Amino acid sequence: MTDDLGAALASAEERYVRGNPRSRQRHEERRASMPGGNTRTVIHVDPFPLTIARAAGATLTDVDDHDYVDFLGEYTAGLYGHSNPIVLGAVREALADGICFGAPNEYEAGLAAAVVERFPSVDLVRFTNSGTEANLLAISLARVCTGREGILVFEGGYHGGVFFYATAAGSPINAPFPTTIGRYNDADGAARLIAEHADRLAAVVVEPLQGSAGCIPAEPAFLEALRAATAAHGVLLIFDEVMTSRLSPGGLQQATGVTPDLTTLGKYIGGGLTFGAFGGRADLMARFDPSRSDALPHAGTFNNNVLTMAAGLAGLTQVYTPAAAHALNTSGDALRERLTALGTARDLPFQATGRGSMIGLHFQRGRIRSTADLTTDAAIGAALKALLHLHCLEQGCSYGRRGFLALSLPLTAADHDRLVAAISAFLDQRRQLVLLADG
Ligand SMILES: Cc1ncc(COP(=O)(O)O)c(C=O)c1O
Repeated sequence: MTDDLGAALASAEERYVRGNPRSRQRHEERRASMPGGNTRTVIHVDPFPLTIARAAGATLTDVDDHDYVDFLGEYTAGLYGHSNPIVLGAVREALADGICFGAPNEYEAGLAAAVVERFPSVDLVRFTNSGTEANLLAISLARVCTGREGILVFEGGYHGGVFFYATAAGSPINAPFPTTIGRYNDADGAARLIAEHADRLAAVVVEPLQGSAGCIPAEPAFLEALRAATAAHGVLLIFDEVMTSRLSPGGLQQATGVTPDLTTLGKYIGGGLTFGAFGGRADLMARFDPSRSDALPHAGTFNNNVLTMAAGLAGLTQVYTPAAAHALNTSGDALRERLTALGTARDLPFQATGRGSMIGLHFQRGRIRSTADLTTDAAIGAALKALLHLHCLEQGCSYGRRGFLALSLPLTAADHDRLVAAISAFLDQRRQLVLLADG
């Protein structure tokens, strides 16, 4: 990082510290009982994150009483916004009748039917408490059904806290499955890896748009190659649609026409409450039918928790209708084009990637097809992202510091204009610093 960029960031951080004394105090209080004051790595930012006191619609209010337009959308789980009356009404109604039964309840059949109807690959579904757990179970099912142990994933892939492949080495706390890591959007390379490792591979696990890696969409030819190669070698194809299921009424599997054997889901499908799910081909999922003599066990105290089932059912059937999905994703495409145009018009290394309502901001020129195309010096890129984030917060817009945005239903055209104006001003004011991304 250069002196200029370092000084600009230090001064922006100083202003942030001065402007957010209560958030700072809360952070210090948390540090006494949680490592680094944090219980979810991604929501930590330096020097400390804002503590949110309340939220309504698309507005977050922090403990220092600042309002922000929420462009993070809880990393896609907050699709409904913060006070959707239909979702909140369903939760209140369910709450009135009790929440912990240790038995099937009145809501889960409806949510399961809605999921099966929406997602082409899902004949049968099982609920979990998180997307991580959904992937753990889908992969474990694939291992049982194929009698093989390994998985193929892609660099930059994120499938949960124990399935994180940001680098070729993967995270040190990843689940200990034998893992091969391929390059995203390299159709020929992936087909080769599948053929080479076929006798050891239970499944290929792929996000049809890499979210955590920076909103990098899969090319149709890549997904088609995965489908063909896995089918040819008896390997199961798992689409991790934990984030991407929002990108069309039936997720990216519907939008791309590529149908996996198993799909994992999560985030907004629980209405904003704790949620995960995995589902797929009836012959595979039927292994969990408890009436079978060879049934696989699938435990989970809160798998069918009443509030999630009620909120998810109301949200998916009454709020995020196919028409609402089309409208939200169309508005996301328009916003992304406006953001990318800001960089292009100024001939700066800045662009927005993604698809529909998922947007990634990058200080990077050229087409981004995989994490290998993210060539900006890591320290410079991180400093520019931090500086832009702090600037946008000052302008009343909040999103994920790594440049992650997920649009929610209550965002308005005026909200989009506000973000575009904030980033436009940043690119003008910080032009020389942004050019450092060119190296
Ligand atoms: C693609 C993908 N898969 C799985 C997960 C894990 O979901 P959860 O955080 O609910 O465990 C995430 C979370 O961000 C995700 O983005």
